Amino acid sequence: MSYKKIIYTLPKPVIILFAILFIIPILSFKINKNKQQLPVYKNPKISIELRIADLIKRMTIEEKAGQLNQMNGGSLTGPGSSKTDRDAKTLMVKQGKVGSFLTVSGVQNTLYFQKVAVQQSRLGIPLLFAMDVIHGYRTIFPIPLAEACSWDLTGIEQNSAVSAKEASAAGIHWTFAPMCDISNDPRWGRVMEGAGEDPFLAGQISGARVKGFQGNFDNQHILACVKHYAGYGAVEAGREYNHVDMSRVTLWNKHLPSYKGAVDAGAATVMNGFNVFEGVPVSANKYLVTDILKNKWKFKGYLISDWASFEEMIAHGYAKDSIDATQKAINAGSMMDMKSEVVLKNLPNLVKNGKVSITLVNNAVSRILYYKFKLGLFDNPYKYCNTQREENDIFTPNNREIAKTAAQKSLVLLQNKNSVLPIKNLDKKIALIGYFADSHADMFDFWTFKGIPEEAVTIKEGLQKIYPNLKYATGYDQDTKSTQKLINEAVETAQQADVLVVNIGWSGKFAGEDRAFADINVPPAQVELLKALHQTGKPIVALISSGRPLILTNILDYCDAILQCWIPGTETGNAVAIVISGGYNPSAKTVISFPYSIGQIPVYYNHFNTSRPGLNNQGGAWESRYRDIPNAPLFPFGFGLSYTNFAYSNLQLIDTLLTTNKPLKLKVTVQNTGNYDGEEIVQLYINKKFSSIIRPVKELKAFKKIALKIGEQKTLEFTLTKKELSYLTAEGIPFLEPGIISIFVGTNSKDVLSKSFNYLGN
Ligand code: BGC
Repeated sequence: MSYKKIIYTLPKPVIILFAILFIIPILSFKINKNKQQLPVYKNPKISIELRIADLIKRMTIEEKAGQLNQMNGGSLTGPGSSKTDRDAKTLMVKQGKVGSFLTVSGVQNTLYFQKVAVQQSRLGIPLLFAMDVIHGYRTIFPIPLAEACSWDLTGIEQNSAVSAKEASAAGIHWTFAPMCDISNDPRWGRVMEGAGEDPFLAGQISGARVKGFQGNFDNQHILACVKHYAGYGAVEAGREYNHVDMSRVTLWNKHLPSYKGAVDAGAATVMNGFNVFEGVPVSANKYLVTDILKNKWKFKGYLISDWASFEEMIAHGYAKDSIDATQKAINAGSMMDMKSEVVLKNLPNLVKNGKVSITLVNNAVSRILYYKFKLGLFDNPYKYCNTQREENDIFTPNNREIAKTAAQKSLVLLQNKNSVLPIKNLDKKIALIGYFADSHADMFDFWTFKGIPEEAVTIKEGLQKIYPNLKYATGYDQDTKSTQKLINEAVETAQQADVLVVNIGWSGKFAGEDRAFADINVPPAQVELLKALHQTGKPIVALISSGRPLILTNILDYCDAILQCWIPGTETGNAVAIVISGGYNPSAKTVISFPYSIGQIPVYYNHFNTSRPGLNNQGGAWESRYRDIPNAPLFPFGFGLSYTNFAYSNLQLIDTLLTTNKPLKLKVTVQNTGNYDGEEIVQLYINKKFSSIIRPVKELKAFKKIALKIGEQKTLEFTLTKKELSYLTAEGIPFLEPGIISIFVGTNSKDVLSKSFNYLGN
């Protein structure tokens, strides 16, 4: 007879007594034993620091190398292949050889790999899923360059928060944004991804984006990545991946502040640039990675290489082979290896041979583990794998509404002769001309993996909703070429209209990484088209689609109004229609100078005076000048018109006895003197003369975006501390010497009121 049968024959009280005496104690002993056996790193009641220390002790060097390995999951954003199949990837995850995936998204996929990592690898360390969510996941926002033209930090933070919400609902933990590279060269395709040419503004914007992405690290947010640290935007002649050469003074004052703004905002991760600094690739550049980022800035997060940038140090002529590349990268303080797998392959032996210290490796791995703990993945690895959220949180009407507002705020009005805009009479006959105005396929740039072009609203769709009498002609083809037939059709359409709205520029596909162009003029056929349309005598509104400033010099005379639209994203057509019809009064100001001609590049507002500056920096005989073009750009940094006018007056320096504890105070009055309510971005620049290191002719130090009703005026007060007025030495030490400080306040970097005072050096 089995023991079960014997138990059934016993009387109930005996069974109860038996349970109390034997079964309950045995069970609770087992439970307690299990509890005691729960490793420290799996125990949510213990501090993250102790859990990391415990886990580090348990990990083999191979598993540590695995944590430093980010595997490409699918899409290619650089050279190489993505052929590793699912089974091979699964095996690597099981073996603890993958710490993170790039471009694996969608809950079904992330859940699959996360389960393999947690349930089938020896230590069950969860994975981090990363993706380039650059300006939206599926709801696509304006490109970052355009978004920056809003100077609207609250709005920018909100846009990133929406992107984070959508991405996290699709299983993503981490984005490779914001790009903080400063560039003065619109030939470089990646100017679209940054916040323009000014270090101060870019620092503020990067900070806002980091806050928006990361929030409080809950599962509605994602980790941000500050890239491409440092100086990648200074590629020579704007050619992608090209050489970079700059002084330390330039590094500190022009390039580092935007990365610093993002690091100070708490960015969890930083990406090494592809470029060199002082002849050493960033991935192996101890000065940038360890001395500045880790030691001086006290960055506590982790670094990731750019796409195979550790391995690419071989092609750079810096590393002998992949072993040498790994050694140099890790010893410089770099950490996770994106795509190349050289760390996975070589690190264990390098540590065993004493070429790389285990302390350095443990530090790197601990930083990565910290964020896995911080996101709560050890305690709930499937936190971001919620199919309900994936259904509900992505591409919602609310997200689209926010994207529409962002797009409206990013359109820069460059010209508006005879106040041709806004076109308030909705019965007006509009001729819309331009292939791109009706092409979903050309609306998005490279960085919109999950954006669906067909879901975006074209300019034609947007305008048609508002102006029922709209007629359309293409004018040029997909390749921006034209024929007499296309031009004739456009002219015929124009002849029946009251106003011509002409969408010119480039396909969105020409913006982004690996999209450097030597010729950034408006395509010749589009200029010819404008000339032909101009002869009809009808007013022309040009809408410029581009991810960079094109050279607009040749078209100014043929257009009454010019609206720089950039690449506005999902809500393009709706936003453009609202602005054209006056539903929103443009308030954006360009954050990048528009060159007068290609030969003028690089041209930027915060340049230096030179020893022969000439009058107003335009240059006369024997002075720094071009013989054939002006020195000044076509449209300067900070420029952008409104449908109304703003008058600046009464700039007063209130307190100029500046000391370490006493800031400079000033005020200025701004009045809306036009016929529309509007928003103005009030910009404050300084110049400091007699400095032991020369300083730019103007440096942006503060700004305020204000709303003014018709006739309304406001007096704004600004304070600037000594630190804010300082410049940095070649080692990043702030200094401010006695001498004349000029203050400029105005509507852009050129049209300003000014006042100066003598700083005595208190
Ligand atoms: C780019 C990075 C990007 C990475 C991953 C690289 O080619 O330079 O900005 O984050 O690919 O897609």
